[in-house]
Amino acid sequence: MTQGNHDVLIIGGGVAGLVLALEIADRRRVTLLRPASDDLGASRWAQGGIAAVLSPGDDFDAHVADTQVAGDGLCDEAAVRFTVENGPAAIEWLLSLGVPFTPDPSPDAGYPYHLTREGGHGARRIIHAADATGLAVMETLQAHVAAHPAIRILDDLTAIGLIDDTAGHCRGARCLDSQGKLHELLASDTALATGGASGLYRHTTSPHPACGEGMLMGAELGAELMNLEFQQFHPTCLFDPQGTPFLISEAVRGEGGRLLNVRGERFMPALHPRAELAPRDVVARAIDAEMQRTGSDHVLLDIRHLGEATIHHHFPTIQAYCAGRGLDITREPIPVVPAAHYSCGGLSTDLTGATTVANLYAIGEVACTGLHGANRMASNSLLECLVFARSCAAALARRGEVTESATLRPFGAGSQEADPRALDEIRQRMRQVMSTRVAIVRRDAGLAEAAEELDALQRELAPIVDVSATSAALAGLWQALRLARLTVASALGRRESRGLHYNPDCPDHGPGLPRPSRIHLSALD
Ligand code: SIN
Repeated sequence: MTQGNHDVLIIGGGVAGLVLALEIADRRRVTLLRPASDDLGASRWAQGGIAAVLSPGDDFDAHVADTQVAGDGLCDEAAVRFTVENGPAAIEWLLSLGVPFTPDPSPDAGYPYHLTREGGHGARRIIHAADATGLAVMETLQAHVAAHPAIRILDDLTAIGLIDDTAGHCRGARCLDSQGKLHELLASDTALATGGASGLYRHTTSPHPACGEGMLMGAELGAELMNLEFQQFHPTCLFDPQGTPFLISEAVRGEGGRLLNVRGERFMPALHPRAELAPRDVVARAIDAEMQRTGSDHVLLDIRHLGEATIHHHFPTIQAYCAGRGLDITREPIPVVPAAHYSCGGLSTDLTGATTVANLYAIGEVACTGLHGANRMASNSLLECLVFARSCAAALARRGEVTESATLRPFGAGSQEADPRALDEIRQRMRQVMSTRVAIVRRDAGLAEAAEELDALQRELAPIVDVSATSAALAGLWQALRLARLTVASALGRRESRGLHYNPDCPDHGPGLPRPSRIHLSALD
């Protein structure tokens, strides 16, 4: 086992982790733990863009109000205002780094870059790089991070847990290398930027989604989790049972795409005044209902009327990918289906990303800042990554390196290898339970069954955890299972339907002011 001494340890190499690394590296030493493979994580798959008040015809109050409506009354207004008001400066910073956003050359454009529209937004306010914004932002940030002399990148380690001391402070992370050797990275401050928990579900919009490992690592140290019941399903993932998951951006509807059922009938205008651009929870639920009504496993997204030139200009990535799967989206409607996309809940933080555990920060999807409430508005996620990573960096710069003296808590591990097939089987069963009983529509009886089934799976795994040498797969599955159980407990605790949590057994908003749900790992005892 090796023990290194680090200053700021960042776990996760998506947009949040890279921005934090770059913004703090001139003031403090940075160690960035990122997966070796670039296609891991959600950031690079983000298509749509970044929402911010950039057009002269837009204003902060409108962005705040749209976010709150999409969040179905549960957003924390201070977090929303903070994010929205810091948005334009964050975009300016990205532009200064050279992110190739799509320009708007039209003479009457009020802003030099093209702004698209997505669900929930009352104005055009999404800056984008064609339909591959996440990739463009990631490539730019990665180039700057690689060139920075004060950032040490470790891409051969996987974090399996955090280190704490007898004072209850976070002191770094425990990691495994590819040979299974344990490394303890002691750090003055640790920031989780590990992504969400969509991987608890069977069908997702990105190929290698996180399963909430970072959320659980924080919870293991006693950090509070918030709003876990609000798991977002993106309305339009390509329906392609033999292919890898592929998102069809909401910007496709923003530019005029229409949803049709398999009989060719448009259904959104009758359900919401914003039709296809209603908030995501509304559209995903409507698609789910329409699929059940027509007995189909998908619906259709039709953009043929936009014409070949517009489709090619705005959606080159989607067009090329679909063509590779044998679908010409200029001539045929796109078969789509909702899929798990984004976790609105996570480790609760303040406006600097500080969790409820000393020296531990959480930024990006792993965090719950209060911005998204019960349903995230489209393209507010990259915005949140940027704004909170920058404010976290400012807080860490003010704080400086600290020396802790409390004793580290010990860590024990068994000595046998866990059978990977047994682990995979338990993971698939967990995903099946979550997808059948804790998805777009959840009922009391199904949630109670899910609680029992997940509990049984955890009991099945417990003896393996007790005797096996820790592997990344074993640690991750153990964390995912416990996060799934906490998600079900949070869903059972919310006696109302709100945003992404729709339970026909309590179909309305509850009485009084809406409250976030807060839960600790001790709820599973
Ligand atoms: C999309 O392009 O539809 C995804 C963007 C987001 O999730 O905000």
